[in-house]
Amino acid sequence: MIILGIETSCDETAAAVVRDGRVVLSNIVYSQIKLHRAYGGVVPEIASRKHVEIMPHVLQQAIDGASIRWSDVEAIAVTQGPGLASSLLVGLSAAKGLALRLGIPLIGINHLEGHLFSAFIGPDAPVFPDLCPFTALIVSGGHTTLLRVQGPGRYQLLGSTIDDAAGEAFDKGSNLLGLGYPGGPAIDKASRGGNPEAVDFPRGRQKGHLFSFSFSGLKTALLYHLKQHPIPAGDSARLADVAASYQEAIVDALLERTVVAARDGRPVAVVGGVSLNKRLREKLTLCSREKGFPLVLSAPAFCTDNAAMIAAVAHYGLGLRDESALHMDCEPRLELFAAP
Ligand code: KG4
Ligand code: ZN
Repeated sequence: MIILGIETSCDETAAAVVRDGRVVLSNIVYSQIKLHRAYGGVVPEIASRKHVEIMPHVLQQAIDGASIRWSDVEAIAVTQGPGLASSLLVGLSAAKGLALRLGIPLIGINHLEGHLFSAFIGPDAPVFPDLCPFTALIVSGGHTTLLRVQGPGRYQLLGSTIDDAAGEAFDKGSNLLGLGYPGGPAIDKASRGGNPEAVDFPRGRQKGHLFSFSFSGLKTALLYHLKQHPIPAGDSARLADVAASYQEAIVDALLERTVVAARDGRPVAVVGGVSLNKRLREKLTLCSREKGFPLVLSAPAFCTDNAAMIAAVAHYGLGLRDESALHMDCEPRLELFAAP
């Protein structure tokens, strides 16, 4: 089945054509990073206006890039939430219009479920049902969630962050270090060659909550460290040491909980923008060898926000479908877990 995915939950305008949930025929991502950099983060109004302007081009590129015709598309999958309301609305409106015009089903997708399924896209990726049950860590700019996956739509929440997300910790830390936005790639790069043990930053452990994460104390620790020990201008070695130590604290916090959650040698999947982090990938790989669990990481192109992962979810019969999809509103706070 050929599904057109559309994703506009934040500052990426994305469309992709995916066959049978894993064969990516095209994957177009228009990143707005340059527009938001001057503000140190995403400005919702600027993001939504750019989505409106660029969406028709991104959609046409997805169709052309896949070498198909509009009439070949069999369903449209679109991110319903969570995300920025004004950004989500642009993708939803485009998707509804196309579904009506083409007379094909519309499917509303949870963005987090999209990240989860990003591990199963591409020729080298494992096949989802073969991997179940497995442990998954979703680490993005807005979420840090550890879960056990039993099957499609069958997820058990193990723990999540009680304050900042891991990506947020990278972004805020990067601002404090003067490295700019987005912080993850900037800290990843600045920390190369630095000593990860130069500064002992907290790992945010929560007494009695084995799988909870907390990153706001880490950010405050960095703030006070920089006040007490300012980095001299041009001292790139010191900057690398502090950046590497800060990164290490985030990586260790993620790793510690994930390793405890991994069970009976069952696989562990780590997905989302932060899973691109070089140090995290290195330490996870080492750990998986030592502890003997298979590690699944999304291909780099599918770690940060993209629409291929949204189309992939729809393939497994998940998401809001039929009439209710045509009438759906955006859900900025959509959860992956139904309220008990
Ligand atoms: O999944 P994503 O594209 O968007 C959300 O759904 O939030 O993740 C974006 C986050 C940002 O916080 C960004 O700083 C972080 O992923 N990120 C990284 C790296 N690349 C992107 N964090 C650490 N290391 C990286 N190399
Ligand atoms: Zn995301």
